[in-house]
Amino acid sequence: MSTNQKNRVSHVAIIMDGNGRWAQKRALPRSMGHKQGAETVKEIARAANELGIGFLTLYAFSTENWNRPKEEVDTLMGLLRQYLKSDFSELNKNNIRIRFIGEREMLAPDIAASMEQLENETAANTGMTLCLAVSYGARQEIAGAARRLASLVKKGDISESDIDIKLFSDMLYTKDMPDPDILIRTSGEKRLSNYLLWQLAYSEMFFSDTLWPDFKPQELRDIINEFYSRERRYGKV
Ligand code: IPE
Ligand code: IPE
Ligand code: MG
Repeated sequence: MSTNQKNRVSHVAIIMDGNGRWAQKRALPRSMGHKQGAETVKEIARAANELGIGFLTLYAFSTENWNRPKEEVDTLMGLLRQYLKSDFSELNKNNIRIRFIGEREMLAPDIAASMEQLENETAANTGMTLCLAVSYGARQEIAGAARRLASLVKKGDISESDIDIKLFSDMLYTKDMPDPDILIRTSGEKRLSNYLLWQLAYSEMFFSDTLWPDFKPQELRDIINEFYSRERRYGKV
């Protein structure tokens, strides 16, 4: 077992799942689960920053989540709006850089504007980068990259043979981020649900039965310890 530079944790990606079931178990409306889940976001972001993790990417809302009942979508967008305006300032004080990935054109203009403002305000911070995937879908991201490359070829800016893994990666939302070392999905589901399909090619996967609102920093630390005991082979022997 070694904890050298080679397997240092630079990026953790999380599918924050189970807010609805957390509320259901308590006979509360689903919105209360989302509210509690948002508290967990703050707690885990703080802990990850203290652990020295470079990037924490959280799946907050998928492109497919737009298909939920309007009332639930409104609740989630309301929570996001509230957090963008107030709670994220605490993260800023902790030197955390905030950024967003996903289809911004789908979001309400005031939400998109607040996101941009937060990104700008925190751009010079030197601590962890907290990346929130909002209205995010990996297939849409990949199709968008293909579209952009096609248009560059058409304009004559690049030739077909320039298209390789590096150039393709540069067309993704995550272009200046390392690939996740660790993927965590809470709530017992074992699927990717259109999350970071390109970037997760060699990530170590962890599936936890804990519902997201119950996820605690200690569980994150346990997962990181287990990560150190795994051997990443990248196809080699
Ligand atoms: C995750 O919790 C949050 C979002 C997808 C927005 P869910 O709302 O999916 O909770 P469950 O899976 O129904 O319990
Ligand atoms: C994935 O959770 C999306 C987020 C956590 C934001 P879902 O609850 O939407 O995924 P499925 O529908 O169970 O695959
Ligand atoms: Mg779910």
